[in-house]
Amino acid sequence: MVMIRPATEELDPIERASRDEIAALQLKRLKAILQYAYDNVAHYRNTFSEKGVHPSDLKQLGDLAKFPFTTKKDLRDNYPFGMLAVPRNQVMRVHASSGTTGKPTIVAYTKSDINTWAELVARSIRAAGGRAGDMVHVAYGYGLFTGGLGAHYGAERAGCTVLPVSGGQTEKQVQLIQDLQPDIIMCTPSYMQVIIEEFIREGVDPAASSLKVGIFGGEPWTQAMRRDIELKAGLDAVDIYGLSEVMGPGVASECIESKDGPVIWEDHFYPEIINPSTGEVLPDGEEGELVFTSLTKEALPVIRWRTHDLASLLPPTSRSFRRMGKIVGRSDDMLIIRGVNLFPTQIEEILAQHTMLSNQYQLLVSRDGLLDQMEVRCEVRPPLVGEVDAERRHEIGRWLQHRIKTMVGVSAKVSVLPPGSVERALQGKAQRVIDSRLR
Ligand code: DLL
Repeated sequence: MVMIRPATEELDPIERASRDEIAALQLKRLKAILQYAYDNVAHYRNTFSEKGVHPSDLKQLGDLAKFPFTTKKDLRDNYPFGMLAVPRNQVMRVHASSGTTGKPTIVAYTKSDINTWAELVARSIRAAGGRAGDMVHVAYGYGLFTGGLGAHYGAERAGCTVLPVSGGQTEKQVQLIQDLQPDIIMCTPSYMQVIIEEFIREGVDPAASSLKVGIFGGEPWTQAMRRDIELKAGLDAVDIYGLSEVMGPGVASECIESKDGPVIWEDHFYPEIINPSTGEVLPDGEEGELVFTSLTKEALPVIRWRTHDLASLLPPTSRSFRRMGKIVGRSDDMLIIRGVNLFPTQIEEILAQHTMLSNQYQLLVSRDGLLDQMEVRCEVRPPLVGEVDAERRHEIGRWLQHRIKTMVGVSAKVSVLPPGSVERALQGKAQRVIDSRLR
């Protein structure tokens, strides 16, 4: 949109290697990591034995399918440090994943892991068009969440000037952007929307800010949301993907010149797509659950980690590595409303079809007797003049209700509220679903 700076001259050689070279490196690393996990983590020794496999059974990449999966339950059962492959005193840093229930999942990094992570986030920033000397405003939360420190170390490694703002205090974020003129912002896409709203509330046009690139991730977002943010904030928005157990942000990241899905840094993470119900490996292009095996991690190697993220593997374009399609949802985030499967992003897509609706929304799911109920709470955009009255909002609500019924097949209650009514994520990730059936 503003300034596209493809990174071709500054790529790591492996980013342009042939597929054969990449496969050879993956096979070498895969053999080594299976042996390493087997030798150093009792859990892997046990689960490999239970499945009757040994690291030496891996002769080609496809043989990985013989090995057992690793799940969040395994990490929980070994809480906090039972799955470490190194002595605790070799751990340089600990993070935790945003768990939904109970104890968080603890993840750990050696000095070399922190180094690899910084390299891969730096690579992601370069893929987004960032260069040494650029100023990077980091508004991902700092702390146990991997977003803030992950982005921070990567931006430093890329030679950028880092503004470690963290999440929250939106007025201050806007002031810093205006005063210090950063080139790049890194935060969740939903928090970027909050920042944009604050600019507008203060009567300042966000599109006139210094920001040229946004590197957004940590939560699912749609192409419609990308267009909306790019238009309002006058920047190029790229998608960065990652998860704590596999590393943090920078497992995959999008190239600014193609914006066609995050490129998986396949020299460090081996991806598979599986059928989430049967565990069977699916061919590239088919949608299923993403599974990652870390190829170089020391402290916490993960073998066939089930992400629960639903996506597909796509052929290489701007780099030699494969890409992932946009995450369409999580296999465990999927709502079943009166037997109908629904992903929150489907509602987001429908909201984007009405020019008067903003893309802020929440789904409240409850059970009335035996019947599931879903209420969609959303809001109108602030009109240029005056306000959208209750009758007009009611009319939009009827349109939305009909659209959801025909597109998704669910009868939902719809509340179209005045601008600003839907609760915002003031830090970190938006809570799109409140499911009281689970209580
Ligand atoms: O969210 C790491 C991260 C931070 C990635 C900042 C990118 C930017 P967790 O808290 O462990 O780690 O949550 C991981 O978030 O399994 C996905 O469901 C979701 N997620 C992360 N990035 C994306 C994305 C971080 N770009 C979980 N698109 C993952 C869709 C994403 N979902």
